[in-house]
Amino acid sequence: PNTKHQRYREAHELTAKLYSYILMNTDAGVQALTYLEKRGISRKTMVEFRLGLAPKAGDTVVTFLRKRGFQDAELVACGLAVEMGTRTLDRFRGRLMIPILDKKGEVIAFGGRTMEQDVKPKYLNSPENDLFHKSRLLYNYHIARKTIRRDRTALLLEGYMDVISLSQAGIQQGVATLGTSLTEEQAKLLKSDCDKVIISYDGDEAGRKAAVRAIDILVEAGLEPLILRIPDGLDPDEYVQTHGGESFKRLLGRQTLSVVQFLLDDLRQRANLVSSVGRTEYVRQALQLLAERATPVEQEYELRNLSQEFNLSVETLKEELRTFAKQNI
Ligand code: CTP
Ligand code: MN
Ligand code: MN
Ligand code: MN
Ligand code: MN
Repeated sequence: PNTKHQRYREAHELTAKLYSYILMNTDAGVQALTYLEKRGISRKTMVEFRLGLAPKAGDTVVTFLRKRGFQDAELVACGLAVEMGTRTLDRFRGRLMIPILDKKGEVIAFGGRTMEQDVKPKYLNSPENDLFHKSRLLYNYHIARKTIRRDRTALLLEGYMDVISLSQAGIQQGVATLGTSLTEEQAKLLKSDCDKVIISYDGDEAGRKAAVRAIDILVEAGLEPLILRIPDGLDPDEYVQTHGGESFKRLLGRQTLSVVQFLLDDLRQRANLVSSVGRTEYVRQALQLLAERATPVEQEYELRNLSQEFNLSVETLKEELRTFAKQNI
């Protein structure tokens, strides 16, 4: 056993307990509890996800852990403290704390959300160190895993609050990449438990781009990606808090797109269909996409749609599709 890692884990576990105590049982926690209540998070969910509050004072955690035998250097190395001149101070101050647990269910890092509008960054996360590698873990994986295995399907989300709100609403298979794009290692992790991954990223440009990247990584890992688009530019957290869990489940049943549908739709949104050049270009790109990614059945179906919409014969479209297929070999 690696004693250094063991001590880092212990420091994180103790700190998570301290943060949780401060949130749930002290006067300092009242404001943060109100913030969470406004966001629709119940006490039960707070306990389940072990949410906490980092105190505003500069060295509460450092002092607390020193008393339990930790050296300042260790606390800096594992990301709980920072050096400021000659002093060692808490890294997280005045933030809502979200513990990040590893596969074993042990706390190895934190995400800290500011509760104020104008404070940047919105989330301050633990730095990477040799215990915490963001690219190797998925937030909530240790809990979601059971449901993911049962359904052979995972739900891939962007953020902490997406996972937490969906779980509270009864949707348990959510895991999050924490703002970074999906990595090969994360895809491999999922591949050991499921066949399909429903990507439900934010509806903004960043989320859309991240989805396009995630699709290729999932396919590469042998998984079937599906894409759930949330209406009205909401993120999954906002959607489920507004419309409820049943409504989200209906979306899952009805609004998941195949990769081909999603990418076609994406092309379409960026195409300039009012100009004839734009239309031709769109048709060309669509055919290329179909040649590269679609099954014969999908091809047939989409060719008919294109034929109707652009008033071109299916024969002509098929001919051009074949030229792309050839280039592909
Ligand atoms: N993120 C981060 N640092 C930031 C912004 C975002 O680490 N400065 C990560 C967080 O894991 C966050 C995820 O990226 O959960 C998605 O970002 P965003 O959509 O901006 O945040 P939300 O998860 O929607 O957070 P909230 O609902 O609290 O605003
Ligand atoms: Mn390591
Ligand atoms: Mn976002
Ligand atoms: Mn979001
Ligand atoms: Mn959000």
